[in-house]
Amino acid sequence: MMTPDYAALATAARAARERAYAPYSHFAVGAAALTASGRLFVGCNIENAAFPVTCCAERVALFAAYAEGEREIVALAVAADTRGPVSPCGSCRQVIFELAPHATIILANMGEEITVAFPHELLPGGFTPDDLPQ
Ligand code: THU
Repeated sequence: MMTPDYAALATAARAARERAYAPYSHFAVGAAALTASGRLFVGCNIENAAFPVTCCAERVALFAAYAEGEREIVALAVAADTRGPVSPCGSCRQVIFELAPHATIILANMGEEITVAFPHELLPGGFTPDDLPQ
């Protein structure tokens, strides 16, 4: 597959951010996951009055892709209105590590600046299925 259009994926993540349900934090996040089959799955953060139940945009996008049977995530873009490129939370880093291990992760804000990283850089030494008893 050709190198994904990082800027276009960041734009899709920014658009998905518009649909965030974030009445408690007022911090909207968007994500866009591109699969090897060429499909795009978007996500936004979805909060809950029981705060810990909240799901981050990254996980919503990855879970949507998996729920449609997709298993090969080529790229995942994340966008929020942060000073620099948004920093995924620890839980999302762990989920990315397992569900999108080969993906290029594109971290963006509302400006032009983007950062590209890989799952093992976001979470060195992440827990894997191999760490479970066989
Ligand atoms: N959030 C995300 O959706 N992704 C991130 O990478 C960082 C945090 C959400 C969770 C919560 O709804 C709000 O941002 C504030 O933490």
